[in-house]
Amino acid sequence: MSNSADSAWVFGYGSLIWNPDIPYTESCRASLTGYSRRFWQGSHDHRGLPEKPGRVVTLVPAPGEICVGMAYRIPCDVVRDTFEQLDHREKNGYQRHQARLDLSHGGTVDSLVYIADTQNFAYLGDAPMADLARQIYHAAGPSGSNLHYLLALADALRKLNAHDEHVFELEYRVLQIQKEH
Ligand code: SIN
Repeated sequence: MSNSADSAWVFGYGSLIWNPDIPYTESCRASLTGYSRRFWQGSHDHRGLPEKPGRVVTLVPAPGEICVGMAYRIPCDVVRDTFEQLDHREKNGYQRHQARLDLSHGGTVDSLVYIADTQNFAYLGDAPMADLARQIYHAAGPSGSNLHYLLALADALRKLNAHDEHVFELEYRVLQIQKEH
């Protein structure tokens, strides 16, 4: 399978898994080889504030690793508007990249994926897991709490039967912090 002239695929690996909020005619669990999901991107506009950024996921190159998410097929008549909408939603440092996805029900598709690379203005990068968990626990923005973003993502990954050590360890740590408060 590949992009036909009249539709386009987008790969979601973060909030686009559990809250796509876009029109699509088909969706499928999908995987992208060579990348890992990391809470290394700052969120100043959705799950944090400029003076107190939250953390959201981006993809980092990781040879041999596989990132599981969702692929959505956007119908031709709304492709342009939908990518404008997604560009706006992902404006805090993400850019569109081409990606070849393996669909869980078989076959591959060419898709677009939003990645926030190390050079973008909102990039925060790696930090000890305890610090990431604390920052996520305390941050909130116009789209809601950073905690909700993390818990919703972990839940969605479990439903997809996708194990992600980084996400699940952060989930464990923020729930521990929550218990202490
Ligand atoms: C995505 O979900 O694919 C991009 C990152 C996000 O919006 O959480």
